[in-house]
Amino acid sequence: MSYKAKFKVWRGEGGEGRLEDFTVEVNEGEVVLDIIHRLQATQAPDLAVRWNCKAGKCGSCSMEINGKPRLGCMTRMSTFAEDETITVTPMRTFPVIKDLVTDVSFNYQKAREIPSFTPPDGVRPGEYRMQQVDVERSQEFRKCIECFMCNNVCHVIRDHEENKPAFAGPRFLMRIAELDMHPYDVADRQDSAQQEHGLGYCNITKCCTEVCPEHIKITDNALIPMKERVVDRKYDPLVWLGDKIFRR
Ligand code: SF4
Ligand code: F3S
Ligand code: FES
Repeated sequence: MSYKAKFKVWRGEGGEGRLEDFTVEVNEGEVVLDIIHRLQATQAPDLAVRWNCKAGKCGSCSMEINGKPRLGCMTRMSTFAEDETITVTPMRTFPVIKDLVTDVSFNYQKAREIPSFTPPDGVRPGEYRMQQVDVERSQEFRKCIECFMCNNVCHVIRDHEENKPAFAGPRFLMRIAELDMHPYDVADRQDSAQQEHGLGYCNITKCCTEVCPEHIKITDNALIPMKERVVDRKYDPLVWLGDKIFRR
């Protein structure tokens, strides 16, 4: 069964743009990305959209559908009523390159600012021995497909461009938490999470967790435990004394 749906799609580049109206055919089983592709094929050949796998695994097709961050390839048209007008806009937190394609280099910059896994001296790959519980803990975080919808939705940077230099966003605070929980990582993640990557800006609104297409419990399993680890360290008298003695 096919029907005609009403779409409003954001078109523009260079900081200028507007919503453009389309009426487009929808067939059973289709997702929003199918409709965008149909628009490209029939009415708007220059409509820009980023996508790759069409299977919810590459994280490329992040967009905002009726104001909510979603993967275009995983959002079924059956989610919406047939007479509903569907509005598709680019992610708001990142600059638009053209139409639905945003410049997500902010995220790659933040990724580069986090030192990679740092094992202790003298332990070589193959010699690590980990408890299964530690393996499982970080396994959840590694499901991340880097769609950057969590960073897009977090109010700390969504409405405050000025916070971007100081805040890594939930995706990368989660990465720091993952490394801090790794029993073989010896880098000081806790101070840098607070001082350099803006952990303190997060006031646990959980919007990041709500939009994650991999259903990673970013706030409960990464951000809150990381905050607790930072606080434990700050108020642990032994750690405090150690910091005083060795940092003078
Ligand atoms: Fe996307 Fe979830 Fe990874 Fe954030 S944590 S980038 S929402 S997959
Ligand atoms: Fe932002 Fe997620 Fe914290 S949305 S405020 S990083 S809980
Ligand atoms: Fe790969 Fe949507 S196209 S996640």
